[in-house]
Amino acid sequence: MGHGIAQVMAAAGHHVALYEPEVARAEAGRARIGANLERSVSKGRINDDERRSQLGRITVATSLADAAKSAQLVVEAVFEDESVKHELFSEIAAAAPADAVLASNTSSISITRLAAALPASRRGCFVGMHFFSPVPVMPLIELIRGAETSDQTESYVRAIAAELDKKVIVSKDRPGFIVNRILMPYLGEAMRAYEDGLGTAEDIDTGAKVGLNHPMGPLELADFIGLDVCLHIMEVLHDGFGAPHMAPPPVLRQMVDAGHLGQKTGRGFYTYPRG
Ligand code: CAA
Repeated sequence: MGHGIAQVMAAAGHHVALYEPEVARAEAGRARIGANLERSVSKGRINDDERRSQLGRITVATSLADAAKSAQLVVEAVFEDESVKHELFSEIAAAAPADAVLASNTSSISITRLAAALPASRRGCFVGMHFFSPVPVMPLIELIRGAETSDQTESYVRAIAAELDKKVIVSKDRPGFIVNRILMPYLGEAMRAYEDGLGTAEDIDTGAKVGLNHPMGPLELADFIGLDVCLHIMEVLHDGFGAPHMAPPPVLRQMVDAGHLGQKTGRGFYTYPRG
């Protein structure tokens, strides 16, 4: 999601340092942004000068210290591993200006716990800023306040969201926050229905698309999000609430164990590219 976040920030006029330790991955992220902007030019939404200046505002950084040293806002979007995030945020705290807002795009990890590992002086500026995929298209940011997030930090995130033309909802710092607390039991129930042989994957998805007017059915949405990501969030919800309907279904665990993670690996509930 990092490149999507970088793209929308640059479109709003901000200079963005896209940090990624592996040069090839960093360049791939910038190339994806370039391709998205080309599409916007071909659709007549922006002209070529605007494309060039948006892309010019994004620099690729392979040093975190360089990327963070003059940042007003740092948005972390690494995979959902709490210890990796802790380590990254301590490096960010060592490099970023003392008053920088530090935000995590985590979809489920406690903002209070992530903040607690930082020096006390940083905790007021720490916040959850949860974007939705694909970031340039989905107009929502879920704002999560940790136990010590200040009002000033909330106002700052609201101002940035307004510049990005994204609507803000505020969630308490509870497992899954608002959207995944609603979404994951729904995806899990669709997986259990599939596992029970209630219908084919296509019929389950068509039920949601045609019967409920959802843009994607639950199984294709799970493939789109990533089955490993869904499993992780369901585990966080199940650990947090202990409710049986939040438990990850066996079929999901099995697919993840087999390395079938959805669109990104070419196989999940469907195979990709889809015919
Ligand atoms: N990056 C940028 N733009 C993209 C894109 C991407 N990856 N994928 C699609 N788009 C754009 C397309 O360019 C197109 O815009 P224009 O018509 O203006 O060019 C627009 O989105 C629609 O795309 P398509 O016509 O190709 O396809 P579609 O109509 O089927 O829409 C979709 C695709 C927007 C993904 C739509 O299916 C959708 O909204 N699906 C649901 C997505 C969703 O629920 N996301 C949230 C997931 S949960 C999450 O992210 C958080 C979490 O913690 C798990």
